[in-house]
Amino acid sequence: MKVFDYKADLQKELRDLAQKNKKIGFVPTMGALHEGHISLIKKSASDNDITIVSIFVNPNQFNDKKDLENYPRFIDKDINLLKNAGCDFVFTPSVKEIYTEEDNRIFDFGDLDKVMEGKHRVGHFNGVAQVVSKLFNIVNPDVAYFGRKDFQQYVIIKKMVEILNIPIKIIACPIVREKDGLAMSSRNLLLSKDQRKNSSFISETLFKARNLINKLNVKELKDWVVDTINSNPFLEVEYFDIVDDVELKSINNWQEQNNNVGCIAVKVGKIRLIDNINFNL
Ligand code: PAJ
Repeated sequence: MKVFDYKADLQKELRDLAQKNKKIGFVPTMGALHEGHISLIKKSASDNDITIVSIFVNPNQFNDKKDLENYPRFIDKDINLLKNAGCDFVFTPSVKEIYTEEDNRIFDFGDLDKVMEGKHRVGHFNGVAQVVSKLFNIVNPDVAYFGRKDFQQYVIIKKMVEILNIPIKIIACPIVREKDGLAMSSRNLLLSKDQRKNSSFISETLFKARNLINKLNVKELKDWVVDTINSNPFLEVEYFDIVDDVELKSINNWQEQNNNVGCIAVKVGKIRLIDNINFNL
């Protein structure tokens, strides 16, 4: 496995591989890697000849400075993990290497980035699109892998490649969870012992909610999820919505759409966790 700090070095290597017609898979990450990330890397390694992972904590997608400062960074540990995961190249650029000058691009994703995460983290998805489009330009993979854990991000990246005519196939991978059901996240490391223990109540409630779709209408189910999670003193729901999986529009009744996704953000003290679940009839 080779590690590159500079895009020129990575691109030189990639040009040689392109000449040999190697199929390239790409997994962008912000590091502090866990089994969720590794599942994407393993999928890429099984689908492609070469797998590239980027580790870059992108300042442009953090709307909260403290969140950026506190974001966990374990580059040496990450590189060791990647060695056993089927990764061939790791790209670990500095902020200057990615943003050689200020990126002022504003993307128009219609309503996709106005709801849920986009509404509560203003500018977040624009920053994600800035960095992912730059990384796509540098790496130029055939396929890129994203987790359903960040469901809205996946939908927006799919829209981005469509709008920009980027010929990269976007694949969504399932959410990987801890044994107690909590969706794996680098931010879980920031939770205290008590907060961590109580956080599994989020997914527990979502799983229970899935069994209630024949009994409750959409509004009743939304209220039930919010009230149930808020009854736990460690947790405070920021939003919970049930949306279709293409336009991310709130649904009003179960018959309306086939693919309904319940998306949630919960504050656990100062830490914000997100999760989602399919509510398919
Ligand atoms: P990061 O949070 O590091 O996540 C990198 C990728 O891993 C994303 O596609 C995310 O959805 C996926 N992932 C995280 N936790 C997962 C889990 N429990 N199960 C399955 N997949 C999971 O998302 C980002 O970084 C950034 O926004 C990025 C796309 C790298 C742009 O900066």
